[in-house]
Amino acid sequence: AYRAAIKEVRTKIEILSEDFAVRHDYNPIHHMERRLKVPESIEEKLERLKKEVSIESARENIFDIAGIRVVCNFIDDVYAIADMLTSQNDVTLITEKDYIKNPKPNGYRSLHLVLSVPVFLSSGSVPVPVEVQIRTIAMDFWASLEHQIRYKPDEAIHNDDALRRELKQCAEESALLDRRMQEIYRRLKEGQKEG
Ligand code: GTP
Ligand code: MG
Repeated sequence: AYRAAIKEVRTKIEILSEDFAVRHDYNPIHHMERRLKVPESIEEKLERLKKEVSIESARENIFDIAGIRVVCNFIDDVYAIADMLTSQNDVTLITEKDYIKNPKPNGYRSLHLVLSVPVFLSSGSVPVPVEVQIRTIAMDFWASLEHQIRYKPDEAIHNDDALRRELKQCAEESALLDRRMQEIYRRLKEGQKEG
């Protein structure tokens, strides 16, 4: 069912992006990635949450078994995609975490939505949660470097404060760049409307 839910949300986003592209002569989505959590990390997360390790328990407690990452060009696109998705009748917003407005202490930025979508099986319709991470190319670029560092087994790197500060500074600079690029793009659009 999770695989089906990913497909469904992915299709929804593709349709939205195609419609948006036709209307605005511009495609807001750079690319998408999808991910199904492997049993080992589901187990690890249940243990971390001090919950029972079973299929039932995973269904009740873990909302990011199915995941989609949507990488956009500009910050406005992130919120446009989020709005278009959550305003659909069959989509329920379970949680929203806006790490763009409130970045994590390490500098991480992204908009995280947990959506519930109905998946139609032979036994009927079941609601399935899907985690959707929406971010800009710059945020994605930063997050993938941070992710590499996070999963380095080397303890010395994890405890390197200078490196963490440097990385955080990169996040700030890259957020500034995102805002400036957005501003230029807005002006370009304004000019096109007038010209
Ligand atoms: P998890 O237990 O990791 O799922 O965290 P959570 O349930 O508190 O959710 P959160 O919204 O904080 O993070 C969910 C996902 O966002 C993670 O699995 C990562 O893919 C991504 N993420 C969150 N924080 C960071 C971060 O600091 N760096 C990077 N690279 N990715 C992050
Ligand atoms: Mg998670």
